[in-house]
Amino acid sequence: MSNDAHSRQHRVLCRIEDIPDGKTRGFAPIDRSHRGVFAIRRGQHAFVYVNQCPHAGAELEYAQDRFLSADGLGIICFAHNAQFDVETGSCIGGPCAGQALLAVAGNIVDGAVMIPTDAGRIG
Ligand code: FES
Repeated sequence: MSNDAHSRQHRVLCRIEDIPDGKTRGFAPIDRSHRGVFAIRRGQHAFVYVNQCPHAGAELEYAQDRFLSADGLGIICFAHNAQFDVETGSCIGGPCAGQALLAVAGNIVDGAVMIPTDAGRIG
């Protein structure tokens, strides 16, 4: 791990058990200079992304904590139906070819989902 990674500040996003397995949860921006993020739980792992679609910049969910396609297998942006791979954030369908969600480097420490403090910073 680089010195940079060591010095980067982290914060607790939530507890892993706060996200039902296989589901998603959205988190509001921490302040006006950050975007919100959302997390998808797969077992004891959480995939975290900035809540901004690369297509036209919309927040992805159609209702609170609703980020997944009807079959629960992919992330979907409800603005224009862009679809993204859960594990990589890459576009897999819709009007976002060649684009991807901005991944947040989350990890689990003693059951807490930790993310960099500056995750989702605007600009
Ligand atoms: S803004 Fe997400 S699909 Fe257009």
